[in-house]
Amino acid sequence: MYFNKKLLVPICLFSVVMLLASMTLIQQTPKEEDEKAVNLKVLPKNISHKDLEKVMKQWASSLGVKCNFCHARNDETKKMDFASDAKPEKKMAREMYLMATKINKKYFKSGDKDSIGVAKLGSVNCYTCHNGVAHLEDATWPKPGNGPGMPPPGAPGTGGPAGQPKPQGGR
Ligand code: HEC
Ligand code: HEC
Repeated sequence: MYFNKKLLVPICLFSVVMLLASMTLIQQTPKEEDEKAVNLKVLPKNISHKDLEKVMKQWASSLGVKCNFCHARNDETKKMDFASDAKPEKKMAREMYLMATKINKKYFKSGDKDSIGVAKLGSVNCYTCHNGVAHLEDATWPKPGNGPGMPPPGAPGTGGPAGQPKPQGGR
């Protein structure tokens, strides 16, 4: 048939494209499955990989750290072992998440879960306190010239009797 011959080339091309597309899909499905989180204790267990990554990036940037601040590396595989609880910082981060959720629920009525089931840390979140600094136990506020919003060194009220006293022990 004349009609069919004319369509033969586009149909063939279309079939090849579809075949290639389905092959990539088949290849991708098990890979996504591999990446599924296996050790979630405070975040929703069914969180998508994409949403988890978003939360992790928020935590990291709030503290001004990289992933390996909380996550241990497997020395044998030479790869990050995100499921491992070896680092105390990871456990601390869980406590922090629960604390922030509690504060929001109790004092700001904004601790509701959002569509992905992660507590909306709307009013008080990691950045509210950390402001890009991980080790808050070392921080004395106000600290002159220490990041945005801080008074410049030597400004009135920074240090001296009016400033916040240094923590005991001087860690
Ligand atoms: C401030 C600490 C902290 C930082 C920084 C951090 N994470 Fe996490 N991450 C956690 C905690 C805590 C959990 C476990 C959450 C839970 O128990 O629900 C987790 C869980 C994960 C998981 C799931 C592992 C599993 O199988 O259970 C992945 C993947 C992950 N993080 C990736 C990352 C990546 C990628 C980065 C860097 C962009 C990052 N994390 C930065 C604290 C952190
Ligand atoms: C209400 C203020 C506040 C909020 C909100 C908060 N933190 Fe913290 N965080 C602190 C203080 C204060 C410390 C220091 C505690 C200490 O060691 O005495 C700390 C310490 C930490 C540490 C340990 C750092 C170290 O020195 O090893 C981690 C990790 C951490 N926070 C992660 C988080 C994450 C992740 C969030 C958000 C889910 C968060 N924090 C929200 C106040 C806060």
